[in-house]
Amino acid sequence: MPVLLQLSDLHIAADPAYRAGSVDPRASLRAILKEMVRPIKPDLLLLSGDLSHDGSGESYAWLAGQLADLPCEILCLPGNHDRPQGLGTLAKLPRVSVMASKWIGDRRLLPVDSCVPNQTSGNIDERELARIESILDDHGDQPVILALHHHPIAIGSPWMDRLGLDNGEELQALIQRHPNIEAVIFGHIHQTFEKTQAGAAYLGCPSTCSQFPPGAETFTLDHQPPGGRLFTLHADSPLQSRILRLDRTPSAKEPPRRTQRAPRTPSP
Ligand SMILES: [Fe+2]
Repeated sequence: MPVLLQLSDLHIAADPAYRAGSVDPRASLRAILKEMVRPIKPDLLLLSGDLSHDGSGESYAWLAGQLADLPCEILCLPGNHDRPQGLGTLAKLPRVSVMASKWIGDRRLLPVDSCVPNQTSGNIDERELARIESILDDHGDQPVILALHHHPIAIGSPWMDRLGLDNGEELQALIQRHPNIEAVIFGHIHQTFEKTQAGAAYLGCPSTCSQFPPGAETFTLDHQPPGGRLFTLHADSPLQSRILRLDRTPSAKEPPRRTQRAPRTPSP
């Protein structure tokens, strides 16, 4: 039975002292790779954006070192903090690809680019919509999972909902034209989200570092441990998934160094 593991919003920075809230993103990712990815050995590991926090070459180089010997194929898609050049660095690794659609069992996983340069909220431009539609037209009856960084529908958290996909209605229209789209999976929101709408499941994923509480009016940190979403893809059965979390937040009690300033405007 094919297994897909989604990790999202790694927020690795050039400075090892960077903390996402009180979480050390490097220590947290190392724990997840050790305690989830290596034991599970998923058929495919999806990294759904914001792999880097600062877009630096150092952040991607560090991440490449962590991913290089993982026992699985890895698919990356961009988040609002990522830089194409950095993702290109990762794509040089043997089992890593960026924005490539993949078969996993009898399902097609189709990554969608929702990023706009220098903008926190997302948009799927006309060219990307046309590209997706063309691929979907070629996979008429096969179940398809769309994967993108930004949340395409409101999640009920006012501050986050201002930072989602700004043309979600165009994606909804595309989904209605293609009933073989089984699910839309995404990151960006640093929390669990599940809703079925017009026959498609919308599934949000926790971050591998800081968490945001569901329903928050304004930027707030949650104390849930870091995690990801595990999909088990039985043939001819509805999509099944569950959230996996570490049993504690690594380095949560370590205070950030004095030199680090909290961001004035948080950017998920
Ligand atoms: Fe993001």
